[in-house]
Amino acid sequence: MNAQQPRRIKIFDTTLRDGEQSPGASMNLEEKLKIAEVLEKMGVDVIEAGFPIASNGDFEAVRLVASKIKNSTVCGLARSGRRDIDRAAEALEPAASKRIHTFISTSALHMKFKLQMEPEQVYRAVIDSVSYARKFTDDVEWSPEDGSRTDHDFLCRCVEAAIAAGARTINIPDTVGYAIPTEFAALIEMLFNRVPNIDKATISVHCHNDLGLAVANSLAAVQKGAGQVECTINGLGERAGNAALEEIVMALKTRQDLLPFTTGIKTESITRASRLVSSITGFSVQPNKAIVGANAFAHESGIHQDGMLKNAQTYEIMTPESVGLGRSKLVMGKHSGRHAFREKLKELGYGEVGDNTIQQVFARFKDLADKKKEVFDEDIVALLDETVAETSERIRVVSLGIQCGSKGPQRAELTLEIDGKTVEATATGNGPVDATFNAIKALFPHEAKLQLYQVHAVTQGTDAQAEVTVRLEENGRTVNGQGSDIDTLVASARAYVHGLNKLLTKRQKTAPAALSA
Ligand code: KIV
Ligand code: ZN
Repeated sequence: MNAQQPRRIKIFDTTLRDGEQSPGASMNLEEKLKIAEVLEKMGVDVIEAGFPIASNGDFEAVRLVASKIKNSTVCGLARSGRRDIDRAAEALEPAASKRIHTFISTSALHMKFKLQMEPEQVYRAVIDSVSYARKFTDDVEWSPEDGSRTDHDFLCRCVEAAIAAGARTINIPDTVGYAIPTEFAALIEMLFNRVPNIDKATISVHCHNDLGLAVANSLAAVQKGAGQVECTINGLGERAGNAALEEIVMALKTRQDLLPFTTGIKTESITRASRLVSSITGFSVQPNKAIVGANAFAHESGIHQDGMLKNAQTYEIMTPESVGLGRSKLVMGKHSGRHAFREKLKELGYGEVGDNTIQQVFARFKDLADKKKEVFDEDIVALLDETVAETSERIRVVSLGIQCGSKGPQRAELTLEIDGKTVEATATGNGPVDATFNAIKALFPHEAKLQLYQVHAVTQGTDAQAEVTVRLEENGRTVNGQGSDIDTLVASARAYVHGLNKLLTKRQKTAPAALSA
């Protein structure tokens, strides 16, 4: 290694695979593609797009992402069986650059109770799965699931065998988020010292956050030679989640003095990616979350504000602009024209939006600008997301009238368009939201149960747009619907209808838990 050159760390994003395994975070095809496109623009090296054998939906998502993404490697997950690997290979077939990621548990606990396999059988499965995957691509990654709790001798044997069988990346997972940084760093160091062919592969790490140590463990591993980090936007993932991409990348960028490594990430895309993932999954970001929380760059106390005014570095270790929170060049208001609006969309990273969509979003923007003093970038992103979501929907909210307040009863008068036909209903309920949802049920009877109702203000101020997320469950399927409007109840109706539209599109997903190796 050249001492002058900082080592380049590959960023492997698994938001669409491990992230989607968070209960309630399921995403449809279009949403997965939208996230993949943002990850590609951001400069992510590898996008793990799904687990193709898990369901037809996962298969289609990996295939779609593989066919559209050109600048990142697209990866599909597979257990060690040949059917899994065949399915992953088939889904990845259109990819410009593809990777098969195959895994099997190696800890004594997992082998005995989960796999009910002897270590020698597992060892043979490692060799068979990696060499079989190599028939489809040179880019094969192998993971020993529960790696951090695996006997060191057995782990070294399996890693050596996987590399000899053709794995170019060896990923060491802390599957249950049990490790602590010194221990995890020592594990990586041990592998570098003991596995004779270790220099033939990139060592990757995949840390879960059960003890809140996923990022610390990943960085400790990088310091010991790991060349790839697996992570997710907002730290989404099984249970307490995975290491957060934004935290890993910004720690590497901010602490070059102690972490002299580079990544290919355009950090200015971080905020956009975080908001997109949060709005699609309905997993809101806690206000004090590092890097992407609403308060991450807010300075409230007088002493801090005073320091900031004198020199921003007194309390700011990285700039808001560096994560994409910069002040916009174009300020939009009711006098802004179509040309400025198009430029604004480009500035926000939506250069490729079609004329029809621009026309519709522009009309909505004018409407909003009439009602609201200032139209922020976040408002425009919400309007665009809303318009794009509505274009292919069978049910559409036309209008909503509400009677509410302390005197009751709360009543909703709702007009929907269902398959092109306009229908109207009036309903009452325990509050205006309940009345609105009852009116939707009257017009479009369904069995879906509401599991989550969440309101979030897109910007500050009492005239801010409300962004509502609902989670609906029907026959074991869960979807998230989003809607935004200056009126919280209209946003609620749109979110509910958005969720229903998603339920109407056929997609069967088998719970990944039932499929683990
Ligand atoms: O956490 C884990 O062990 C995994 C593997 C499939 C890499 O997600
Ligand atoms: Zn995982």
